[in-house]
Amino acid sequence: MIISDQFKCGVYSFDLTQRRAKKLPGRPPKEVKGNKIAKIGVIGAGLMASQMALLFAQRYQCPVVMKDIKQEFVDKGLAYCREQLAKTAKKGKLSAADAKWIGEELITGTLTYEPFKDCDFVIEAVFEEMGIKQKIFGDLETACKPECLFLTNTSSLDVAEMGKNLKDPSRVVGFHFFNPIAVLPLVEIIKTEKTSDVVLATAFDIAKKIKKTPVLVKNAPAFLVNRILLAWMDGIFQCIDEGAAFMQVDNAVVELGYPMSPFTLAALVGPAIALHVQETLNKAWPDRFPVSTGLKNLVAKGKKSILTFTDKGIDVDPEIAAGWPQGNKKFTDDEIRERVLNRVAKEIDFILKEGVVASPKDVDTGVIMGAGWPFFMGGITAYLDQKGISKKVVGRDFHQNGFLAIEK
Ligand SMILES: NC(=O)c1ccc[n+]([C@@H]2O[C@H](COP(=O)([O-])OP(=O)(O)OC[C@H]3O[C@@H](n4cnc5c(N)ncnc54)[C@H](O)[C@@H]3O)[C@@H](O)[C@H]2O)c1
Repeated sequence: MIISDQFKCGVYSFDLTQRRAKKLPGRPPKEVKGNKIAKIGVIGAGLMASQMALLFAQRYQCPVVMKDIKQEFVDKGLAYCREQLAKTAKKGKLSAADAKWIGEELITGTLTYEPFKDCDFVIEAVFEEMGIKQKIFGDLETACKPECLFLTNTSSLDVAEMGKNLKDPSRVVGFHFFNPIAVLPLVEIIKTEKTSDVVLATAFDIAKKIKKTPVLVKNAPAFLVNRILLAWMDGIFQCIDEGAAFMQVDNAVVELGYPMSPFTLAALVGPAIALHVQETLNKAWPDRFPVSTGLKNLVAKGKKSILTFTDKGIDVDPEIAAGWPQGNKKFTDDEIRERVLNRVAKEIDFILKEGVVASPKDVDTGVIMGAGWPFFMGGITAYLDQKGISKKVVGRDFHQNGFLAIEK
């Protein structure tokens, strides 16, 4: 019952995720009706695509068709969906008959575009390469009916560029899930300048139907959550590059209350993906997002993590530490946290000034629902205001009237 800082942030986070998000901020007005969805297409049957097919089929209970380039990839995707459904049924959350119906009748696989002709939306989740994605959208334009939406799950590519060769680019919208899809409730909806209101409204309605929390994001490099995570990582790498010990940094940062330590997260995401997003951001803002030499070495050596298991527990991989250029500055734990939070505050300021999202509340909804950042920090902007970090770094609070002020 003590009205502590953490309590205030908790109330703020609860309101964001339980009330505000349900009003779908960013959706066009309700007069704009979304399209009806009776059949769904998924391009790819890999890690993300199979999780999506499963979710769509469970929530919409309509046919979902998955396409890949080889039968064995399609079979693997289908097997994943059926396994998950069987597990859900075993837990008693779904009847065995429904699990069989969803897994064997609703979700199907294909190698051709033929079954896509009557889809109401198609989402692509193939390799992260612009050329492949553009080609797929081109093929879909021929295969699908004119009102079918084209969604992309890209983590870092320009969504407008992806649709630029289409006769009707207004049907393209980004729909960025976070892995694992069953755990992380966020979907970033990426609107391009061409995306039509009906397409945008439909994208929001899809997010609602599948019980995800959508945040409207501008088509900007790395969108919202990955950009913040990479700024956070940049602050971390700055400390290491200047001389702080790897484990000291990892421990100092996780102590703030994050769900996992920075290097654990980097291992989960995979250093290759982390590097790819870093390079995308570096192309846009070379000063703020230097490509880390240490991370590059890590990927070149085929390592999956900065950390390794030793007799004494987890430690930095000695080969990685040896190939990581470091200065000799010493840091205290507080200085590490200050450096990282300052870097994040600076990036959020740019994000808001560029209009990547409309409000600091969207930033917090994003990091809470997409990265599991703590409720008791109010995501991040509430904490930055509370601790005076925003004022110090960007010269103002992110929430002009206090983060607990009621939004009209
Ligand atoms: N992995 C993640 O954590 C994550 C998170 C969010 C978004 N994403 C994005 O999702 C997309 C897919 O990532 P993933 O991790 O699922 O990749 P993945 O490698 O697991 O799956 C990609 C699949 O696409 C198939 N494919 C390639 N070209 C194809 C084509 N022309 N037609 C049909 N299928 C084709 C591949 O055979 C493969 O099965 C990428 O754009 C990625 O950036 C990934």
